[in-house]
Amino acid sequence: MRIDIVTLFPEICRAPLNESMMKRAQEKDAVDIHIHNLRDWTTDKHHIVDDAPFGGGQGMVMKPEPIFAAVEELRQQTSNAQRPTSNVQLKTPKVILMSPTGRRFDQQMAAQLSQESHLIIVCGHYEGVDHRVIEHLMDLEVSIGDYVLTNGAIAAVVVVDTIVRLFPGTLGHKQSAADDSFSGGLLEAPHYTRPAEFRGWIVPEVLLSGNHAEITKWRKEQAMKRTRENRPDLLK
Ligand code: 6GU
Repeated sequence: MRIDIVTLFPEICRAPLNESMMKRAQEKDAVDIHIHNLRDWTTDKHHIVDDAPFGGGQGMVMKPEPIFAAVEELRQQTSNAQRPTSNVQLKTPKVILMSPTGRRFDQQMAAQLSQESHLIIVCGHYEGVDHRVIEHLMDLEVSIGDYVLTNGAIAAVVVVDTIVRLFPGTLGHKQSAADDSFSGGLLEAPHYTRPAEFRGWIVPEVLLSGNHAEITKWRKEQAMKRTRENRPDLLK
């Protein structure tokens, strides 16, 4: 998969996507991540990316021209390995705007997006983005939750990390992604490691028993208990 991120703050994306599993996924060529500065697509002397809202009101609105120019250029970079001589784009990139007014991101959306061959992710900023960008350029508007960040670049990192860790070979243990909280509709059961006793607190005996049927049963009960306590909405 190729992922292009277009943002006014490339440095916010750079460090988190160049560490740990995201670094490993790129070294293994599971994903090819490119981080771009939106200002590179401005044509005026002052590299202006925003303007006052028509109709008045607080704050600034991101202008359409640099965003259209960036996406239209990056769209051409989709590789069509099967038909290198054709002008026909077989694989069309999915273009996503990060915005608090978008559809809420979840594990299911991550799994769907992980099937794409090219994502172009544009990060919103200021009070919003000229709506013609959403109507005529974006395939999808995505929010990562019901709160407001100063900047979509942080949200883009969350989305990219979630998608990339689903790729085969990114995770150490194959079963890990399937066992994740949310994949099965329940939160994960608690985990323990050595020492078996720490400050007088003892690891549940069943986990030391070696009885795998009992361990599986205990984990299911604990997953249910944790979900009921922390996320009752998942059981509805
Ligand atoms: Cl994608 N952007 C901003 N600015 N705030 C958010 C968000 C995105 N998702 C949740 N809050």
